[in-house]
Amino acid sequence: MRTQPTRVETRAVYDDSAIQAHCRRVGAAAVEVARVLGWKDERQRALRAAARSHHGFAGRMKPLLWRLLEQFWGVAAQAPPALDLPGREMAKLLEMSCFFVERWEFLPYETARFEQVVEELRTMARDGFFEGAHVEGLARVPGASVEEVRAVVSELPVFPSAALRAMQLARDPKTSAAQLEQIVGSDPVLAGETLRVANSALYASTTPCRSIRQAVVAIGIPECCRILSAAAFRPLFQSPLMRPLWNHSTEVARIAESLARQSGKVEPEEAFLTGLMHDIGRLALWKLPSRLTARYSALLGHGCEPMFAEVLLCGFDHCPAGREVMRHWGLPDRLAEAVEFHHQPERSDSDLARVLYLAEHLSGAQEDLPSMARFCQSRDGLGLTSEQLCSISSPPPLY
Ligand SMILES: [Fe+2]
Ligand SMILES: [Fe+2]
Repeated sequence: MRTQPTRVETRAVYDDSAIQAHCRRVGAAAVEVARVLGWKDERQRALRAAARSHHGFAGRMKPLLWRLLEQFWGVAAQAPPALDLPGREMAKLLEMSCFFVERWEFLPYETARFEQVVEELRTMARDGFFEGAHVEGLARVPGASVEEVRAVVSELPVFPSAALRAMQLARDPKTSAAQLEQIVGSDPVLAGETLRVANSALYASTTPCRSIRQAVVAIGIPECCRILSAAAFRPLFQSPLMRPLWNHSTEVARIAESLARQSGKVEPEEAFLTGLMHDIGRLALWKLPSRLTARYSALLGHGCEPMFAEVLLCGFDHCPAGREVMRHWGLPDRLAEAVEFHHQPERSDSDLARVLYLAEHLSGAQEDLPSMARFCQSRDGLGLTSEQLCSISSPPPLY
């Protein structure tokens, strides 16, 4: 007799958002492998649907998976031993995808590259756990090489040096309103934007600012320098697709600056500037050929975290891509290192990487799986308390 999951079992599965997220990743990975193997669309849809329900049936997983796949694929019900190959093969692919995803989910606690995980799967396939063809399909999913990323990076605009100049001005206690007035006044776009910010609800006084000098005084020299830094970077994020990434980058920059100030271990101006650049690797990955960015969008649309989608499609994530951009721009190693390890601060001695990790976390961006170990290690490494972290409020929008 057919064994259907009970309502309690179903609720137990669907009520747990961590399991739902895991199931979405498994479905995404399985569909990518199926695509590479040339499986038809309806089989891909069945895989995704079955993946959504594949947990919560421990011990009975295989027979239930086969039945689920039968249902979703519209095959007549049969007892598992007599089941024809498609359902069984799909179940095997889901099992391998589940293992692959679980390895990725374990990465907050250890480090393994995509190729290493594939090598593990090959060994397991030789021992009969998985189908060798499925493992080879997975190995062929990443469609971008490091060389391709380097080629994209080499075509990025030169580093906006005005951002460094703004950082130097912010650092220098002798910087005057007259100096900033001169810089802002030399660029009509910047002048317009500074006046707009000065007259916004955040700064508006009873008398509207009509001159750049008035605007600089109203905003204040430190904030004016931040606007200058951000203005230098903004053209890189001009397309509407990049708008959310830009908003996220400015938010992380603000939080990073506050964290740096609280910890006293990192220069706040440098934290702000590196915060603006921390996800520059994501910007580079969006410039890869459309065959990849379309898949990337689809994976994000299916609820995968950017870090998972990047590993699946490229074999690496935006952190090494960010390091490539920083090197291309000839920025100091300590900034490149912080960007490279902003999701794995435990792999570096950089306090700036810790600041970026915490800022990323506090921004609420779900780029990666949360890791309590990394959070505590970064917080303690910076000598901060949880109370201090809680006191960091949501920063006002910038520029
Ligand atoms: Fe980020
Ligand atoms: Fe990131």
